Amino acid sequence: MKILAIESSCDETAAAVIEDGRKICSNIIHSQADEHALYGGVVPEIASRGHVEAISAVAQAAVREAGMEFADVDAIAATCTPGLIGALLVGANYAKSLAWSLGKPFIPVHHIRGHIAANLLAFPELEPPFLCLSASGGSSMIVLVRDYTDMEILGGTRDDAAGEAFDKVARVLGVGYPGGPKIDKLAQGGDDKAYVLPRSHVDGAPLDFSFSGLKTAVINLAHNAEQKGEEIRVHDLAASFSAAVSDTLVPRLKLAAEQTGVHTLVAAGGVAANSRLRADLEAMAAGFGVPVYMPPLSLCGDNAAMIGAQAYYEFLAGNTGTIWQNAFATAEI
Ligand code: KG4
Repeated sequence: MKILAIESSCDETAAAVIEDGRKICSNIIHSQADEHALYGGVVPEIASRGHVEAISAVAQAAVREAGMEFADVDAIAATCTPGLIGALLVGANYAKSLAWSLGKPFIPVHHIRGHIAANLLAFPELEPPFLCLSASGGSSMIVLVRDYTDMEILGGTRDDAAGEAFDKVARVLGVGYPGGPKIDKLAQGGDDKAYVLPRSHVDGAPLDFSFSGLKTAVINLAHNAEQKGEEIRVHDLAASFSAAVSDTLVPRLKLAAEQTGVHTLVAAGGVAANSRLRADLEAMAAGFGVPVYMPPLSLCGDNAAMIGAQAYYEFLAGNTGTIWQNAFATAEI
């Protein structure tokens, strides 16, 4: 079964054709990052308009690269939640209209389920149940994936997402948007113990965490240094911050594995591209004597291939939508 999938939840207009949930036939991503970089972050209205301009050409390119015509695809899928509502509506409405006009099923997909499913594309042997640390720009959580479409959030951030913290810290340090990859690069060779930064703890909810205090600590540190005329050692601060994020996330995935007895460990989302986090996850999983599944960097950030992978399993579970399907800024996984 070949599914044409559309992703437009934030600032990437993406389309892909995926076969049977596991094989990438094409994967096209048109990023708007340069336009948003001018403003230091994603401007929702600009994102929506950018999707309108790009979506038709991106979808056509995906079908062409797969060696097909629109009429050859078996179903059309789109991210319908969570995300920027105007941005989501562009992709969802495009996909619904296409499905309706071609007389094909329409499959609405949850964006975080999609991030998790990126691993299904990379690892043919991976099957539920598994535990997934999903960390991106909009959310950060530990998910028990009981089955392809049966998931439970075991813990997560009480405030900022990990990627949001990376982006804000990058902004304070003046290194540009998107901040995660830039901080990751700066952290190479930095001393991760040079700056003492907080690790959050939520009383009574050991799998929950917070990044707002860590983010504020870095902002205060930068402002204090500026006032005193002191130089910030950017590489050291980037390394110390990256270590604090990793120290917040990795032990919680470990605790979730101990609590549930599920020892198949997976990472997902844009922040799963972070080199410190990847190294720490590998070291932690090695302690259990298991591998940790992490998507290749090309599938960590937003893309439509992951939406097409999840869409296949949603279709098998009967989770199709109608022309009346709405998009939602937030929704339970
Ligand atoms: O998954 P994603 O592309 O979009 C959402 O679904 O939110 O994640 C984007 C986030 C951004 O905050 C970006 O700064 C962060 O992922 N990110 C990284 C890295 N690459 C992307 N954060 C840390 N290290 C990276 N290498």
